Amino acid sequence: MDQIIVHGNGPLRGEIPIAGAKNACLALMPATLLTDQPLTLTNAPRLSDIRTMTALLQSLGAEVAPLQEGQVLALSSHDLTSHRADYDIVRKMRASILVLGPMLARDGRAEVSLPGGCAIGARPVDLHLKALEAMGAELDLRDGYVHAKAPHGGLRGAVVDFPIVSVGATENALMAATLARGTTVLKNAAREPEIVDLAECLRRMGAQIEGEGTGTITIQGVDALHGATHPVVTDRIELGTYMLAPAICGGEVECLGGRIELLSAFCEKLDEAGISVEQTARGIKVGRRNGRVRAVDVTTEPFPGFPTDLQAQFMALMCVAEGSCVLEETIFENRFMHAPELTRMGARIEVHGGHATVTGVEKLRGAPVMATDLRASVSLILAGLAAEGRTTVSRVYHLDRGYEHVVRKLRGVGARIERIKEE
Ligand code: EPU
Repeated sequence: MDQIIVHGNGPLRGEIPIAGAKNACLALMPATLLTDQPLTLTNAPRLSDIRTMTALLQSLGAEVAPLQEGQVLALSSHDLTSHRADYDIVRKMRASILVLGPMLARDGRAEVSLPGGCAIGARPVDLHLKALEAMGAELDLRDGYVHAKAPHGGLRGAVVDFPIVSVGATENALMAATLARGTTVLKNAAREPEIVDLAECLRRMGAQIEGEGTGTITIQGVDALHGATHPVVTDRIELGTYMLAPAICGGEVECLGGRIELLSAFCEKLDEAGISVEQTARGIKVGRRNGRVRAVDVTTEPFPGFPTDLQAQFMALMCVAEGSCVLEETIFENRFMHAPELTRMGARIEVHGGHATVTGVEKLRGAPVMATDLRASVSLILAGLAAEGRTTVSRVYHLDRGYEHVVRKLRGVGARIERIKEE
């Protein structure tokens, strides 16, 4: 297993290209199951989660051409040879549940393993199942699998009112509804840019959808969808992560392809902290004004609020800010696992349930630390950039799930970082 070594750094300067969004791509890929014609995704990221979704779709009979250097992912589900998403794959990645709605909508049957627990929270899938049940699906939970059947004549349109906002449940229901008979209304739907991207792709495939990006999405079912080519939206979490690098180290970095509207709540917090954020023709330019960063409170919320997927990285910045702040996590119940690791680097953090109080220190100190999940792992790298001496991050396979070429991208702006084989 590899390790990443980071040395405390001076100011960073240059450009970082931002990839297509992992979480958008993981929802777009299962859309191939809705049609027997080819679906081509451009601007797809090269990540281990994308390879896992590729393996899952291939196990169902889809053809997926390996990702080329040009970031093109060519998918085709002419015939599905299996309707079973096996535990062996699903346990590696929870987004596997997103094949359930499309398979059920297209062929009226699906067996999908339940994903089980996760490091950051319990993460049940009850809302996915309830939405499909509202569309007439019969579900039987046995042997760790959801055995699902559509009624005779296929799924039917329904009003689905989500009790809490769920990105994945909105995606599953949205895909299923494109082929259901009649109209589906999704209320309290997620509004994330990844939902908008999925709706745009489905519309290119012939779906009739209105209201994506608002809390109410209306879908008029059609008889069949066709092939399409769609560019994956920019990864706003990768974008926010790299925006934090010059915020922590000083200097000025332009994140190519970035747009402020993907991250407005996050950009406001950077501004409050004393970081300058400017939209340019090519992306977002981030620089640190003179002096230390100011501590600012943050509460994670569904889009357009501050994203939970940037909470760990923002905490790394707050560890070296002037003053104290409270970071409140409202989406996942166990998403402060990076706090004890940051504490090993000299950070002052106290966690009480869903709140973490961070009191900034002038300097962090390098230490051996362990990645516990994807976003936690990159927060340790950011902290390493702000630390004196050497930080060694192990278990970096978490990082490979969501960040392509992290070492290359950070070295490109002057960071001292390398990847080595673990002894
Ligand atoms: N929830 C339920 N029941 C459900 C579904 C969700 O109770 O059936 C709860 C969850 O446990 C959580 C909340 O609802 O407390 C929100 O979860 P959501 O369904 O929105 O999350 P998700 O679709 O499983 C996606 C991203 C996550 C991101 C969250 C929130 C993908 C593949 N994953 O997960 O990304 O944190 O939305 O924005 O899109 C990451 O990339 O590091 C990551 C964890």
